[in-house]
Amino acid sequence: MKFFLDTANIEEIKRINNLGLVDGITTNPTLIAKEGKDFETVIKEITSVVDGPVSAEVVALDYEGMIEEARELAAWADNVVVKIPMTEDGLKAVNTLSQEGIKTNVTLIFSVAQGLLAAKAGATYISPFIGRIDDMGDDGMSLIYNLRLVLDNFDLDAEIIAASIRHIGHFEETAEAGADIATVPGSLFPKLWSHPLTDKGIEGFMADWKVYQNRDE
Ligand code: E4P
Repeated sequence: MKFFLDTANIEEIKRINNLGLVDGITTNPTLIAKEGKDFETVIKEITSVVDGPVSAEVVALDYEGMIEEARELAAWADNVVVKIPMTEDGLKAVNTLSQEGIKTNVTLIFSVAQGLLAAKAGATYISPFIGRIDDMGDDGMSLIYNLRLVLDNFDLDAEIIAASIRHIGHFEETAEAGADIATVPGSLFPKLWSHPLTDKGIEGFMADWKVYQNRDE
């Protein structure tokens, strides 16, 4: 499973990218707004640091507007992937953009039907939002299992990005469910690599080593 970071914060991206673990980045208008900087500057900064795909979202909601924005975003860097919302105009835009060779990530997927249509329209990536489904009292993870099954049934090429990941359990189970990619908020990342028993174990080893070094020969 590939590991993406779901953030537009360049410091966070640099720090985690330095570990050699970042396969790509996803952003959205909310994440860009948090940075308080010019959209183009933020995306160009990220694409200069990360080699993998970097999703940048259109804000137009009509077909023509989406196409115009998508062409502009795709020209910012070779690794920009245009994020398109899952709507009727969005599907049409994905179809056109895929014929132009522009990579797309269809966002805000909440059902198998939506994922299947986006994949058939030619999306490079589809992004089911598991955390937001859980928030509604439903089971977000089952959407990942079902989308995996459906895409495999019909040999559809779209890659599944498990999005809206909120905790370690989400991250671990998306791998088991067969998501191609998990996109993880930077704030969750330290929780993925750390464990209190690891800290306790290191503490114990260090204390025993100190006793060993001070032993009487
Ligand atoms: C993914 O592409 C989205 O940016 C993101 O995962 C949304 O997550 P949220 O539901 O925590 O806002």
